[in-house]
Amino acid sequence: MRALARVNLAAIERNVARLRRELDGAELCAVVKADGYGHGAAPAARAALAGGATWLAVTAAAEATALRAEGIEGRVLVMGALTPAELDAALAAGADIVAWREDMVEAAGERGGGRIHVKLDTGMGRLGTRDAEQATRVAELAATTAGVQLAGLMTHFATADEPGDAFLGEQLGRFEAWARPLQERFPDAILHAANSAAVLRDRATHFDLVRPGVAIYGLDPFQQDAAAQGLEPALELVSYVAELKAVRPGESAGYGRRFVAERDTVLATVPIGYGDGVRRALTNVGDVLIAGRRHPIAGTVSMDNITVDVGPDGGGIVRGDEALLIGPGIPAEEMAGRLQTINYEIPCGLTARVARRYHRDGEPA
Ligand SMILES: Cc1ncc(COP(=O)(O)O)c(C=O)c1O
Repeated sequence: MRALARVNLAAIERNVARLRRELDGAELCAVVKADGYGHGAAPAARAALAGGATWLAVTAAAEATALRAEGIEGRVLVMGALTPAELDAALAAGADIVAWREDMVEAAGERGGGRIHVKLDTGMGRLGTRDAEQATRVAELAATTAGVQLAGLMTHFATADEPGDAFLGEQLGRFEAWARPLQERFPDAILHAANSAAVLRDRATHFDLVRPGVAIYGLDPFQQDAAAQGLEPALELVSYVAELKAVRPGESAGYGRRFVAERDTVLATVPIGYGDGVRRALTNVGDVLIAGRRHPIAGTVSMDNITVDVGPDGGGIVRGDEALLIGPGIPAEEMAGRLQTINYEIPCGLTARVARRYHRDGEPA
């Protein structure tokens, strides 16, 4: 297979179970937006539910529709901003939605109602209202509008992934000051705030429900070592050695001749490139694991191929050998670091051209 993402659903299941062990009564809402962070939304959702998640969250209404089309039932929270057409779709999918202005509650009411989570912006500065009084008015309206249920009170942290930073506590304080008294008035409304980093970092953020995403895929929200957090990466990205060629000093490979051999060596051509999500910025900087050894990407990452310098002796590599770009020995955190980005972007950036193959600890799923 030229470009393949192998996804271990058992790892997702175990990651969810591992996160649940942090919880003292809170439920777990598995975030499967952006096609399950590139892992495949429906398979990831099923694995998360098998691991003990009781809710799912997405961003777009179409993502909720797609989960339902896959036969996935139960609570689905659509967390993103919604156009009128998306609101129709979210409600038609029986999803919970997020609101922070009265007109949003009215729009849901006009459509026959639905379950609403009111979002206070305690410092993220994106969705939600910063005005706690407005948020309270929206919650009151949701609780009293025919057909509408006030299902939750929520916020989202900006810096949970920066251990030691004080802003998380500030956001938490603002959220609790608003949400606790409101929950006394509306006991059916659940409180939720924690992303993956907050789940791992501070139990005070857990409330009634937590919303981890990245950690359920076995990626470290702190960009360090997933294993140190007890998480198992679920995704491996592989291709294979399609061609091997000996090059002489002065011979080059790839667009712009960004690799010019300084010695006799062997180049392996691996048919995966930025058209698959292997970013061009890995030109001359990334490593690939072939036949158990690391070898550097040599020259420009093109749309469909990379070339890898496997050394003068060819490393014992033969055509057809697997080439591992992400997996044991080459974590997504490493590739992200080389790209000066975060691990989230690595699986999210894998394109539709990369086949996803699902397994459970090696057994086809
Ligand atoms: C509102 C909200 N909650 C939860 C999450 C999950 O975050 P993470 O993947 O860091 O666990 C996200 C994702 O960014 C989000 O936008």
